[in-house]
Amino acid sequence: MKLGKKDFLRITDFTREELQGILDLAIKQKPLARNFTLEHSHPGRVLGCIFHKPSLRTRISFEVAIWQLGGTSLYITDREIGIGSREAPKDVGEVLSRYVSGIMIRTFDQKMVEELASNASIPVINGLTDLLHPCQIMGDIQTIIEHRGPIEGKKVVFIGDGNNVARSWLNAAVRFPFKFVLTSPAGYEISNSYLDEVRELGDPDYEWFEDPKEAVQGADVVYSDVWASMGQESEKAERLQAFKSYQVNEDLMALAHEDAVFMHCLPAHRGEEVSDAVIDGKNSIVFDEAENRMHIQRAIIALLLK
Ligand code: CP
Ligand code: NVA
Repeated sequence: MKLGKKDFLRITDFTREELQGILDLAIKQKPLARNFTLEHSHPGRVLGCIFHKPSLRTRISFEVAIWQLGGTSLYITDREIGIGSREAPKDVGEVLSRYVSGIMIRTFDQKMVEELASNASIPVINGLTDLLHPCQIMGDIQTIIEHRGPIEGKKVVFIGDGNNVARSWLNAAVRFPFKFVLTSPAGYEISNSYLDEVRELGDPDYEWFEDPKEAVQGADVVYSDVWASMGQESEKAERLQAFKSYQVNEDLMALAHEDAVFMHCLPAHRGEEVSDAVIDGKNSIVFDEAENRMHIQRAIIALLLK
């Protein structure tokens, strides 16, 4: 399968069939990668990994994924390039295209990533911006499929801030027929302007609730993320106060479907958005979810890189 777009910047850039193709490849190759029998389909390729925010999962999983395909990686922080300060994103895109086979970038501004991508002749992959975290949600869907079967018809309830992870879930609901529910304090929901933008592309089955107990009824997946994302550190105290009744604990999980899984993109702030009992509990699949970042991203790299 060939993907119809050069870059992986948002889930809605791809058709449902293309997204399913990525998921199928990730699931098929997972046992091969675990057994070190994966074909080195991309020898000599170099993935430039640009990070303007910290990372455990994204950095390690992307770097290992390109190595598993026979290629190698470069870890580039903002001290090296200075995109937008030392050099225009446009010029950076042109120059990097002469050296590496693909770029993975984690940064603040989605528009900067789009500008970089539109001026690069090589694929650019979004490893998280303030707006979106598409690779995360692709790996999450893989994890749901492996634990609970197809995503179709499921109810995914996101408890917390209407942030980059929540917006990428909404994007996924444009392409796949499942119900996506966000529950957050008023003022922390997904903005109407973003909802309008998304509704131009499709008709996601989406609902917002202020009351987490109401939202979580019958959930197949209960999903959580930090209340203050990277870049929002100065709002931490205010957000701790606003979100204090949104912790996923055993009482809240008891209102979901009895087989509901607990998911979290990680890193988790234990004792804040999730209790130890839930994240360490039998229905938590957070570490399979973390592992799948590598499998889904390897599939994305394999399909995008020449
Ligand atoms: N979930 C995730 O993206 O983790 P990192 O911030 O550690 O990369
Ligand atoms: N919403 C979080 C996700 C981290 C993987 C953040 O942006 O910090």
